[in-house]
Amino acid sequence: VDYENRCRVLEQKGLVVWFTGLSGSGKSTIAVEVEKMLNEAGMATYLLDGDNIRHGINQDLGFTKEDRDENIRRISEIAALFQDAGMITLVSFISPFKEMREFARSKVRDNAFIEVYVSTDLKTCMERDVKGLYHKNIKNFTGIDSSYEVPEHPEIILDTKNTTPQECAKVVLKAILDRIRG
Ligand code: ADX
Repeated sequence: VDYENRCRVLEQKGLVVWFTGLSGSGKSTIAVEVEKMLNEAGMATYLLDGDNIRHGINQDLGFTKEDRDENIRRISEIAALFQDAGMITLVSFISPFKEMREFARSKVRDNAFIEVYVSTDLKTCMERDVKGLYHKNIKNFTGIDSSYEVPEHPEIILDTKNTTPQECAKVVLKAILDRIRG
């Protein structure tokens, strides 16, 4: 059974929607909203995030440059498989390095990849400090003593300062529907 046959049964195409941004930027909150909206619209989805990846298949990895690259390499391969299975695959990781985000894109067939940069600035993330990590002096923390390379040509840039997660999610939802119907 090939990709076209799988898509025919699911009545959709596969897609990877890749959220990138600092810790606390709102990536997962928005991705969860998008997944709910897609589910209500009758689409087959899956969300890859820290809960099901860093606690499972990638629990051997930490936050050095090498470990982050390996984290994203494995996630890229998994996301490409889910896309090939016909799923709308939402992926939410800091993914701070451009080279690995490009790798993720290169793994997906038919350029079925939407990069979403959740552009919340460091000051705002530190003020929100949702998980209480910014004030713990953690070594190699993204934005503090480990770099975040801002995406140069993301398909979508989201401003979470003046826009609610629901409004951000609607922007992503529209881009997804345009892509898979187009
Ligand atoms: S990535 O850089 O490899 O893409 P990933 O998204 O999997 O990072 O994990 C980031 C999450 O791990 C953060 O939101 C935070 O909760 C936690 N974390 C723990 N240590 C660090 C660290 N040194 N830098 C960034 N996030 C960390």
